[in-house]
Amino acid sequence: MNDPLFSVKNRIVAVTGGLGQLGKQFSAALLGRGARVAILDLNVDNTELPEVFQQYRDNGNLVLIGTDITKRDSLEDALDIVCNTWGEAPHGLINNAALDSPPSAPPEETGPFETFPVDSWDRVMDVNVKGVFQACQVFGAKMAEAGKGSIVNIGSTYGIVSPDHRIYEYKSKNGGKPFYKPVVYSASKSALVNFTKYLAVYWGGTGVRTNLLALGGVFNNQDAEFLSGYCARVPLGRMANEDEYNGTVIYLMSDASSYMTGATIMLDGGWTAW
Ligand SMILES: NC(=O)c1ccc[n+]([C@@H]2O[C@H](COP(=O)([O-])OP(=O)(O)OC[C@H]3O[C@@H](n4cnc5c(N)ncnc54)[C@H](O)[C@@H]3O)[C@@H](O)[C@H]2O)c1
Repeated sequence: MNDPLFSVKNRIVAVTGGLGQLGKQFSAALLGRGARVAILDLNVDNTELPEVFQQYRDNGNLVLIGTDITKRDSLEDALDIVCNTWGEAPHGLINNAALDSPPSAPPEETGPFETFPVDSWDRVMDVNVKGVFQACQVFGAKMAEAGKGSIVNIGSTYGIVSPDHRIYEYKSKNGGKPFYKPVVYSASKSALVNFTKYLAVYWGGTGVRTNLLALGGVFNNQDAEFLSGYCARVPLGRMANEDEYNGTVIYLMSDASSYMTGATIMLDGGWTAW
């Protein structure tokens, strides 16, 4: 933790979707190592803050900013708050906020490709692609102006390879409707792969690095049939624990990754290795 190579101390990092399952993990890992974190999320006032965050709010290292990443003016307001709070440009941006279809999603969103609703396509693309694009325009531009920084886009294995729909077949065998992982999630996450490379090149001369983490599924009390199907596809034989991506995030926010840009880092327990 004291190794200067991996230090993130005092670095200002904006985490979109920072109140979600992984956003909380990334934020806590950064705060625990002395970074200053701005959580950008919807409804920050109505969300109960994890206890671990309170001390960082009290010592001024954490701000929560109600932000809708689909709206550029909301991101501009958030950047103003970050710069006014700490008096300098952010060092890092983690584009983590995204929409996926939860188990409770309407059946047409997890039904056949041919009837996937165009409204759902637009809603997910708006957050997962346009939101990331706009966050980079607003925060990334400020970082480029400052001549340094690290952008981490959160992708998914499903943006690199297709979901294996066979692992969801048990749902229809149990009397439910056929379930397909939605096409828009894959399409949106795959868009980030080359968007990341585009920005790595575009801002290469400014000192701003841009990389993508392609994450595998995280354990979140999924049902037993899903777990057995999923884990059988993973060489490591299990889903990720929710804190297992933190090390790579710290690495990318630190100088240890100073020569890495435009990379797609697979963090998937080996899912894409065979
Ligand atoms: N959890 C997994 O198994 C998994 C696997 C692979 C990739 N990922 C990716 O990791 C990231 C985090 O996933 P998670 O499981 O923690 O998700 P989550 O649903 O728990 O959190 C997402 C957060 O984004 C916020 N958000 C949604 N729309 C927003 C908007 N318009 N503006 C601002 N914030 C908005 C939500 O309020 C929420 O707090 C996502 O990009 C996801 O696609 C997750």
